[in-house]
Amino acid sequence: MSLPGPTRDAIVERLRTVIAPGSDKDVITLNIVRQIALDDGVARIEFELPPGAAPFQEQLRSSTAAALQHIPGLRSVSVECTIRANRATTSMPGVRHVIAVGAGKGGVGKSTIAAVLAVGLQRLGFRVGLLDADVYGPSIPKIMGMEDMTPTGDEHGRIHPPEIEGIRVMSMGFIVPPDEAIVWRGPMAQKYVKEFLDRGAWGELDFLIVDLPPGTGDIPLTLAQSIPLTGAVVVCTPQDVALLDAVKALRMYQKLAVDILGIVENMSYYLCPHCGHRDDVFSTGGAEKAARDLAVPFLGAIPLNVAIRVNGDGGAPLSNFTRTEPFVRDALESIVKALVAQVEAKSAQRSPLPQLRIS
Ligand SMILES: Nc1ncnc2c1ncn2[C@@H]1O[C@H](COP(=O)(O)OP(=O)(O)O)[C@@H](O)[C@H]1O
Ligand SMILES: [Mg+2]
Repeated sequence: MSLPGPTRDAIVERLRTVIAPGSDKDVITLNIVRQIALDDGVARIEFELPPGAAPFQEQLRSSTAAALQHIPGLRSVSVECTIRANRATTSMPGVRHVIAVGAGKGGVGKSTIAAVLAVGLQRLGFRVGLLDADVYGPSIPKIMGMEDMTPTGDEHGRIHPPEIEGIRVMSMGFIVPPDEAIVWRGPMAQKYVKEFLDRGAWGELDFLIVDLPPGTGDIPLTLAQSIPLTGAVVVCTPQDVALLDAVKALRMYQKLAVDILGIVENMSYYLCPHCGHRDDVFSTGGAEKAARDLAVPFLGAIPLNVAIRVNGDGGAPLSNFTRTEPFVRDALESIVKALVAQVEAKSAQRSPLPQLRIS
């Protein structure tokens, strides 16, 4: 007597009990099952996941295997996941990669790092733009030393971003003084950012770095949704509370199907310039551990360093690479290279087109 063979319907019924990690719905309702193949008691289930869901693959594999294991006659189950390509960056045809820099809270060094990434990428030979979308505190003009510059308009209605060190920069701060910008509401902020993206004469860029407002509220959310992003870099400091905020920010991006390109731990440690002693002022290594736990890349750690603060206040971003102690410069350069490597890896997954190369 043979046991009843497993049927597709039985498998579908069981799959209805598999909740997709990171959501509250089952995989059938979410319509992420691409194929169910059955051959001689062996089932092969193939999922197609949105771009931000890559970290959840393992969890999905094991919960699917567990849900299907008792179907009579089913000898084995294999589960495969493919990740859907991210949204095309069609609204910015000349721009290859748009990278958001976000943080769970303010004051962690998000704008400083956005500027470091822009300058660092430029130094590697990439064509770079920097968009300050932080309506709460547009600090990029100050950090980049561009406070007295303004964008210009042309007869075609295009906005030309002012340029420094070959980097094209657009900021709310050029349009309204930073202390006024804070009263803006979401739709207004979104409208301006859209204008900067759509009407900005960015030209051909390899990277557009976007300094997003901090937190997981309405404004960062709508902005992250309205910008065609390659992915996001999340900045945090090592304290527990900052990490919790960072995890919230990571989850927000994942829900929006934005790829996480990596976490940066800022103000990670302090190296005394006099005696060389290292102090972990806010503790250290928390971000790296969080990155491991959440299965997202860790791009590196940046020390708490007076020169970084002075260069930020003084609008001398290039000096972070040219006039700091070697351990600071090395930390910054290694993060920039790690970011390029992540973008390269993502591009390789998506298309066989020529990849970015560090010269
Ligand atoms: N690694 C660092 N070492 C020293 N000062 C830093 C560092 N990162 C940021 N800062 C300083 O901390 C303050 C807040 O940084 P900022 O980039 O404006 O944060 P956010 O954009 O997250 O609000 C600035 O004065 C900046 O110069
Ligand atoms: Mg800022």
